[in-house]
Amino acid sequence: MSDAAEQMFSIVKASEGSGAPLYLQLKKNIEDAVQRGVIGPGDALPSERDIALKADVSRVTVRKAVQDLVKSGILVQRHGSGTFVAPRMERVEQSLSRLTSFTDDMARRGMTASSVWLDKGVYPPSPDEIMILGLSAKEMVARVSRLRIANDTPMAIERASLSLTVLPDPAAVGSSLYNALEMTGHRPVRAVQRISAINIGAADAKLLDVPVGSACLHIERISYLASGKVIEFTRSVYRGDAYDFVAELRLAGPSEDFGGKT
Ligand code: GLP
Repeated sequence: MSDAAEQMFSIVKASEGSGAPLYLQLKKNIEDAVQRGVIGPGDALPSERDIALKADVSRVTVRKAVQDLVKSGILVQRHGSGTFVAPRMERVEQSLSRLTSFTDDMARRGMTASSVWLDKGVYPPSPDEIMILGLSAKEMVARVSRLRIANDTPMAIERASLSLTVLPDPAAVGSSLYNALEMTGHRPVRAVQRISAINIGAADAKLLDVPVGSACLHIERISYLASGKVIEFTRSVYRGDAYDFVAELRLAGPSEDFGGKT
């Protein structure tokens, strides 16, 4: 480790003139070192014991500082191999005016899209699914849930519901849902998307490999066929540190409505 990096372990004790708790000082020093690029993504930190010796503080103090930094996503801990500076996310810029699929979006950026299947099956519909997909209470619904990955980075969790009339066999979906719909002439041509901010829960955080409670985007997409029939109702959780959604805005004409619910 360089001299500059070693500096992050030098902290000032109360008796030497600083009142700040030791773990907060240590935490701030490490945070500053990451921000200034003194240590970079993927760099390993010394062991808890070594940091305690270098900083002349207890291991409990080191543990508390490190745990806080893991919680805020600055450091990551891998069992058996230690503590590292978290990898930097390359943000993906996503247009809000084009109806594209995850597979298309990643291909356009030269990334490889893959998925881990969380579920694909046929279920009795929920009240939301009945209402949005226009199902009768006796009809079943197809559900396709996936963890979406770009290269090796988990980007989003997508839980799609579709009427069995357009997707009679969800098990037949391969790597792309929209490709499967295209094959049967049911690829959507229009969609309404609602985006809101959430703090991610424990189960989804584990899948996306982000700290519990971190800022994410909840995205609901309702897609339509040219006939106006709703084809897809998808609820997704996107990593907040991975996406920038971009929309082009134009001055509204005098007759156009401002806002209001869709
Ligand atoms: C996007 C949308 C989803 C849609 C998916 C289809 O990610 N947010 O609503 O279901 O694309 O992607 P693919 O065809 O790669 O499965």
